[in-house]
Amino acid sequence: MDKRDPSIYIIGAGGIVNDAHLPAYRLAGYTVAGIFDIDAAKAQATAEKFGICAVYGTLADLIATARPQDIFDIAVPANHLPAVLRVLPEKAYVLMQKPMGMDYEQAREILTITRDQQLVAAVNFQLRYAPFIEAARQLMAAGAIGDLCDIEINVNVHTPWNLWKFLYESPRVEILYHSIHYIDLIRQLAGNPRAVFAKTVKHPLMKELASVRSNIVLDYGDWLRANILTNHCHIYGQGHQHSFIKLEGTLGAIRIHLGVLMDYPHGQTDKLEYVTLQEGQPAQWQTVPLEGTWFPHAFIGSMQQLMEVVAGKRPHPDNTVEDAILTMACVEAAYRSGGQQSISFSDIQ
Ligand SMILES: NC(=O)c1ccc[n+]([C@@H]2O[C@H](COP(=O)([O-])OP(=O)(O)OC[C@H]3O[C@@H](n4cnc5c(N)ncnc54)[C@H](O)[C@@H]3O)[C@@H](O)[C@H]2O)c1
Repeated sequence: MDKRDPSIYIIGAGGIVNDAHLPAYRLAGYTVAGIFDIDAAKAQATAEKFGICAVYGTLADLIATARPQDIFDIAVPANHLPAVLRVLPEKAYVLMQKPMGMDYEQAREILTITRDQQLVAAVNFQLRYAPFIEAARQLMAAGAIGDLCDIEINVNVHTPWNLWKFLYESPRVEILYHSIHYIDLIRQLAGNPRAVFAKTVKHPLMKELASVRSNIVLDYGDWLRANILTNHCHIYGQGHQHSFIKLEGTLGAIRIHLGVLMDYPHGQTDKLEYVTLQEGQPAQWQTVPLEGTWFPHAFIGSMQQLMEVVAGKRPHPDNTVEDAILTMACVEAAYRSGGQQSISFSDIQ
């Protein structure tokens, strides 16, 4: 490896770093040079598992070791983000886990910090880079479905929320921590909505959590329907669980089975099928072979954005905070909507 190549310094050694960040970087061949967690035992255990040679006792020590071209990879609960970002050096490269703060106000605070310190900062909205999304994007670019006119993301699964202890203290759960990925994806595919209408509700068997089921309508006017429907509380076996992204166009459709959410965390294999209508022929669906999945492969894509900026291949990451703030604005609109009224996107900014 060239000495000028960036190394990754990890801040936070929790579940997602172990399950997705580090397996992804191993697959991609990225160098992870050091790790820090306020829980030293977690940092040590993670370092041993993934062969990371430096475990730092303080964040300051980790920062002091990193070179200007290195990348800070932050995976701590959202409310800790401002404090960590503030101590990073000016012009540092940084990837932070989603959500970009607990709410839109904190997202604005984070954006201000990144601007003041001239950080090259990206948010880990990695669903954008999942192999099935890349494949769908290629099909759409090749004209396989014509003009996009219907987006539906529909999840009816049993999500073991108990895996994420910090959620029990969070006033917002489902949209902020889960559907946020779908909102970000829909923005990627269709641009910013004109307005957002949402109703998100709690579950009587999960009283200790904030709302865990959501209906979200992103308003794109008269020609494009964009809906997200999530129920994470389907505890009645796998027979009737489902989890899919469906994209319909004027000429065809794409349907993606999201395997990772089924029987979580074991998961199932993803599947991407598509159809392009041929005049006079019955609709014939085809399956596109996929290599890799959301966890961990999509996490390569988020980091690759920063790697490419460091290498001078792109001016800024596609998942930059300047774009992520707009996903956070949609999330804020969804919560403020509260099932009562749709909130204009421009009212949030
Ligand atoms: N698909 C995804 O993108 C995805 C999936 C899961 C979690 N996440 C996000 O990643 C973040 C972490 O989630 P997790 O599941 O790993 O949680 P976790 O609770 O397993 O791990 C968080 C870790 O951060 C450490 N920590 C807390 N404050 C810190 C600080 N100031 N400095 C250093 N370390 C600190 C904790 O000790 C803990 O080890 C959350 O914001 C979550 O929303 C994203």
